Amino acid sequence: MNLKKVVFPVAGLGSRFLPATKAIPKEMLPIIDKPLIQYAVEEAIDAGFNELIFITGDTKRAITDHFDFKPDLNISNLTKDKKIFISQMHRIIPDHVSCQYIIQDEPLGLGHAILQAKEAVGEDPFAVVLADDLIDAKSGVLKQMIEHYQDKNSSIISVQKIKKSESVNYGIIEFKEGGENLIKITNIVEKPSPENAPSNFGVVGRYIFCNKIFSLLEKISVGVDNEIQLTDAIKLLLETSPIYSYEFDGTRYDCGTKLGFTKANIAFALKDRENANKLKGFIKDLL
Ligand code: UTP
Repeated sequence: MNLKKVVFPVAGLGSRFLPATKAIPKEMLPIIDKPLIQYAVEEAIDAGFNELIFITGDTKRAITDHFDFKPDLNISNLTKDKKIFISQMHRIIPDHVSCQYIIQDEPLGLGHAILQAKEAVGEDPFAVVLADDLIDAKSGVLKQMIEHYQDKNSSIISVQKIKKSESVNYGIIEFKEGGENLIKITNIVEKPSPENAPSNFGVVGRYIFCNKIFSLLEKISVGVDNEIQLTDAIKLLLETSPIYSYEFDGTRYDCGTKLGFTKANIAFALKDRENANKLKGFIKDLL
């Protein structure tokens, strides 16, 4: 299978998290002790991707510095306790995986960010991961999607059931016939009002695309929110190619919002056996 490349758009303004995102991308914000982008990278590597393409803004350094392994780090004068923490800073990117960093000059939208990967991706199909959609799953969502990609050999976008009242925050899919968790879609609408939402399935940040998407991204002009919208290119792709939606197995945290980010931190903190009980007691007291 030639599905080895994965694109991480990390060049958004992250305006909902200012001033925290003034000097670092939103994707460097940590859930407990790991930045969002590391969760996303680990999910991709675990699914077998070995060419990681980051679309960065002018806060590029933070991401490259994070993934750049520094074996010569001087830890000899640290206490034993601290050495244990440092030892957890293992090599995040294994030797067989490469990283490429491409700059998006201006944050003109997700579609525009993905288009910057055109040369790097070439003729191959590829995945896109939005690291601010953190998904806690037994088997990573990309891994789940690959199984279906192998079967259908078509583009796949991940979705979750949403409340219709929240449709204005999502790309919403339309379909004729339902199915279990894999549905052939007929249309997609960016951020419709609840009255105009064609279904209650919202798109979440995991995609597998055939490379036709690039020529379509080149064709479209600015859409909703004055941005080059990925949704508009997906709509065009539907005219010539089948696209499936996949309802993944897992819990998604929208870490692009303060509420989602806080929920993720609490949920991940409660996974830590050492602190879970103390945290539960603390939350109880607060309430
Ligand atoms: P969002 O719209 O969630 O991110 O984009 P944002 O624009 O950074 O956030 P706010 O609204 O200002 O708070 C979804 C994903 O697409 C990337 C973002 O980094 C995020 O991963 N993105 C968005 C880009 O890489 N470039 C863009 O021009 C826009």
